[in-house]
Amino acid sequence: MNVQNMKHTADAETVEEGLAIAEAQDKLYNDEMATETAMQNTLLTPRFYTTDFDELDAVDVTPVREDWDKLIAQMLADPNKGHFKKNEDWDHIDWENMEPQLKKEFIDFLISSCTAEFSGCVLYKEMKRRGNNEDITQLFQLMARDEARHAGFINDALREAGLRVNLGFLTQKKKYTYFRPKFIYYATYLSEKIGYARYITIYRHLEANPQHRFHPIFKWFCEWCNDEFSHGEAFALLMKTDPKLTSGINVYWIKFFLTAVYATMYVRDHQRPAFHKALGVDPDWYAHEVFTKTSKLSEQIFPITLDIEHPRWQPTLEKLHRANVDIAAAKEAGGIGGKLRQIGASLRAAGCFVSLMFIPANKHQVPENVRLEPVY
Ligand SMILES: [Fe+2]
Ligand SMILES: [Fe+2]
Repeated sequence: MNVQNMKHTADAETVEEGLAIAEAQDKLYNDEMATETAMQNTLLTPRFYTTDFDELDAVDVTPVREDWDKLIAQMLADPNKGHFKKNEDWDHIDWENMEPQLKKEFIDFLISSCTAEFSGCVLYKEMKRRGNNEDITQLFQLMARDEARHAGFINDALREAGLRVNLGFLTQKKKYTYFRPKFIYYATYLSEKIGYARYITIYRHLEANPQHRFHPIFKWFCEWCNDEFSHGEAFALLMKTDPKLTSGINVYWIKFFLTAVYATMYVRDHQRPAFHKALGVDPDWYAHEVFTKTSKLSEQIFPITLDIEHPRWQPTLEKLHRANVDIAAAKEAGGIGGKLRQIGASLRAAGCFVSLMFIPANKHQVPENVRLEPVY
């Protein structure tokens, strides 16, 4: 590992620098496997997004000016500037002798986390590049800065395992999914808040059970998730500028995104049993914990939360997981038989999703004051 590069990645003040370094590193390292994994586009893998940048650029933050300025000031102060560097807390990992299934699942976790972080970086950076609205471009610049650090730090961890995600290649070659700005708000707000909830839940669990901390990266999760928390706050404020975004027909869209984000997390995590076992975490407990925290947080802006205590919720998620396992097995088997089984399992999965969507949501009054602090 080139220490010089590592230090630069962590120090990168702007995403441009981060990207330039990533591209320089591309020339130094190459690992097709990790990049190929990151290139995958399925319903479950992290995607890259693009949107109507002009519409986003036209947002006027005047209705939330006071909270907006406070949030931007916090982000400008950059409390995590020096955080994403390996220091004496970074323990050596014996990748060679890691239990093979754990190694496979943990690497998959790192690659998918790196792709998700970088996906945020690419979207935010593009908004910064295309916009003229100073409030908007400043926010997106700050968020891109954070995500570049996050992705770079995970890539550093991967490099010790002899792998890396080729971020420059990914930027150019990965497929971009178009979402209207309002869908970007719902999806990105949720992914920031669920990201916070995921990182802090693992961090608190390992704080209490350090014997399960099998890799040093988890020690970095506390400050890390505060970045995600602020990003979520920014999207909450953006949505607050226009009450239509969280009322009327849009409430159904919010429900759709809540269901999609929760269900995706459940299914994806259940594909990594050895990883969760090593952490000493029951993935069903973990999912419930993360959904509870995310729901509590999202009450700041969404007028509904999903009823995760409903008798149909958990069994339907389990059915969805089984359908997903069957889809993978049928794909693997191939041939006409495999294709038919794949169609059957996909229909079952779709049925599960519809069933989850039809669980009545919990309604509540959204508070006047939107801003929250990370308290978990
Ligand atoms: Fe991030
Ligand atoms: Fe983020």
